[in-house]
Amino acid sequence: MAKKELPNALPFLEENPIVPVVVIDNAEDAVAAGEALVAGGVKCAEVTFRTPAGRQAIKEMSKVEGMTVGAGTIINREWAEEAADLGAKFFVSPGWSAGVADVAIERNIPYLPGLQTATEIMMALEYGAKAVKFFPGGEAGGLKMVKALRGPFPDLLFVPSGGVNAENLTDWISNPAIASVSGSWIIKRDLIKEHKFEEITRLSQEATDKVKEVRK
Ligand code: 3PG
Repeated sequence: MAKKELPNALPFLEENPIVPVVVIDNAEDAVAAGEALVAGGVKCAEVTFRTPAGRQAIKEMSKVEGMTVGAGTIINREWAEEAADLGAKFFVSPGWSAGVADVAIERNIPYLPGLQTATEIMMALEYGAKAVKFFPGGEAGGLKMVKALRGPFPDLLFVPSGGVNAENLTDWISNPAIASVSGSWIIKRDLIKEHKFEEITRLSQEATDKVKEVRK
């Protein structure tokens, strides 16, 4: 059987060192939320399937110029198909799903599966993954765990998500095993709900500046 090969997620990650996780309650807020991120230098968003508004929000936010919108919490083949039909430009899962990976290959959409063990990494490597989400990054052992996993997998890059925030961002992004960081700290669900778009821009800009400082 020919080796399965996921689309390479690295070009997307090189362009997008910060991948915000968006949990949105009203799809009508999606354009303003996307514009707020872009204004702060963050040009992508993982819009999760966790809320009923998430699906429509992917379509709406994709209208924002300069924004690459992906779908998050994609946990099975059906949702991956749906996300691809909605125009999602990348998929993110909290865990590994061969069904999602197959759709990613069929539709040529980069996929970041979430994982935290060597066994899960080996499953993703069988699909040619070059980068994976490390979830939940803080709770699963933080940078110490990433460094340990990098021993046997020196070429794999990680995107921590879960527990990344303004305080620890610099530590994460300074490590060569980290491709990009992900999380909700710059676009908390309530900030969108309460239309605090300027605050989203401020937090995005703060994060963008920190990444630039490290990666200049
Ligand atoms: C998630 O899937 O919810 C992300 O990992 C975000 O986690 P955070 O809210 O801790 O940033």
